[in-house]
Parts: sequence; C-alpha cells; structure tokens
Amino acid sequence: MNETEFAVLVEKTRETLQRVAEQFAPAVFASSLAAEDMVLTDMILRDKLDIGIFTLETGRLHAETLGVLDRIKDTYGYEVALYRPQPEAVDGYVRQNGLNAFYDSVELRKECCRIRKVEPLNRALQGQRAWVTGQRRAQSATRAELHVQEHDEAHGMEKFNPLADWSEEDVWHYIRSKGVPYNPLHDRGYPSIGCEPCTRAIQPGEDVRAGRWWWEQPESKECGLHVVDGKLVRIKSAATV
Ligand code: ADX
Ligand code: SF4
Repeated sequence: MNETEFAVLVEKTRETLQRVAEQFAPAVFASSLAAEDMVLTDMILRDKLDIGIFTLETGRLHAETLGVLDRIKDTYGYEVALYRPQPEAVDGYVRQNGLNAFYDSVELRKECCRIRKVEPLNRALQGQRAWVTGQRRAQSATRAELHVQEHDEAHGMEKFNPLADWSEEDVWHYIRSKGVPYNPLHDRGYPSIGCEPCTRAIQPGEDVRAGRWWWEQPESKECGLHVVDGKLVRIKSAATV
C-alpha cells in the first residue's frame, strides 16, 4: 500500500468513527489498550469525537498494559473508564476451581472470561446505541467474515469494527508515523495482548494470535466478547469502506 492509499484508508476510518459519533450516540469504544485500539483511541481523541472509551480491567492484565492508561492520560489528557469484574464472582470461581483454572479446560477458561470480561462488558454497554472494537479481519480464522458494521443482536445494538480492512502493517504505520503511544510488550514479541496468564510472546513467523490461549485450538480462541451464544449477526458493511 502506498502513502496515497494509506491516507484514503485512514480517512475512511475517521469517517466511520464520525458517523458512529453523529448517528449512533450514545456510543462507546472497547479498548484492550493493544496496538489496534491505540489507533482508534488516537483518532477518537484527536478529532474529539463523542465516543466514550473504556477498558475491561480483568484483574489479570500485565503491568505494561495498565501503564498504557497513564500514557493515554499524559498524551491526550483523557481518562479511560474501567470496568472490573464482580468481586464475589471472582472469589467464587477461584475458591471452587483455583486461580489459574483456565488452563484445565476450555469450559473453565470460558467461565473465567465470562466473569472477568463478558459480564463487565454487558455493564459497559448498558444504555448505548453502538459499540466500537479494534478487531481486524486478518487477525484470526474466527474473524474472516468481519465487516465494518454489524448488528450485534446479543447486545441489541450496532457494532462497528472500523479497522476490519486494516493489515498489521497499516496499524504500525499509523502508530509510528503519528507517534501514538503503545504497549511496550509489542516490542518484546507480543503482537496480540490479552490477560497476562493467557498471553505469551510468539516466535518470528508464527501467527499473530499464536500467543493467545496457546494451549487451545484456533477455533475456540475467542473470549466471548465478540461471539455470544452464536447470536452475533454479521451483515454487509453499510459503511463506504
Ligand atoms: S479477544 O476477544 O481475543 O480478547 P482481542 O484481544 O483480539 O480480543 O481484541 C479484539 C477487540 O476486543 C479489541 O480491539 C477491543 O475492542 C476488544 N477487547 C478485547 N479485550 C478487551 C478489554 N480487556 N477491554 C476492552 N475491550 C477489549
Ligand atoms: Fe481469565 Fe485468561 Fe480469560 Fe483473562 S483471558 S479472563 S485470565 S481466562
């Protein structure tokens, strides 16, 4: 992709975000604080778009990831909203199964993600008309069908993936050319970052999500934020992208 094509891609993405802010208010952006989400954070905060930004603070994130919250505050003067799991649910899970029971089975892993991510996400989305994510089509087998705009039936609102068409290279080109702050773990072999015990560095040539829930099969590697009981309906993109 040359510079002109890249500029067009960036402009289309900014237009998508503007459309969300103007036509789907109130809308929020779910940020995992990883590279893709920093691109969207930069666009939203630079353009002063009316889209609130929140992070699901699972209680198991890397210190480096939490450090990005301070970088956002220093750079943009913006405080990202944090949603935390219900302490009783976490305590119950740990007492019954153990702190790191997610390694034992896909079911126990999904239950941990349900308590630490999915339930807090439901709270974060309450009262909204749309939400935005940093998912990209090229990220995994489970995202091959991703569109810029979808109807999220499970949450009863529109869902936007403005970076659906972006490559990993595009993401880094944006970050480096605009000096966007990012998680230092990306420089240590972590292209994709989730919770600390469920993420590891990858080797050169490995798939970008190979370090996420690396003990599971690729098909099960979703935490439930983006597929809820198979009720997520993918529709053709209504955006110009
Ligand atoms: S996951 O489903 O495997 O965890 P991934 O890390 O690729 O997701 O992130 C995809 C998108 O899900 C992110 O761009 C972001 O919109 C959302 N997301 C993932 N984790 C979080 C989090 N902890 N807080 C807020 N949003 C998140
Ligand atoms: Fe739990 Fe791991 Fe899911 Fe984080 S990614 S919520 S630690 S299972």
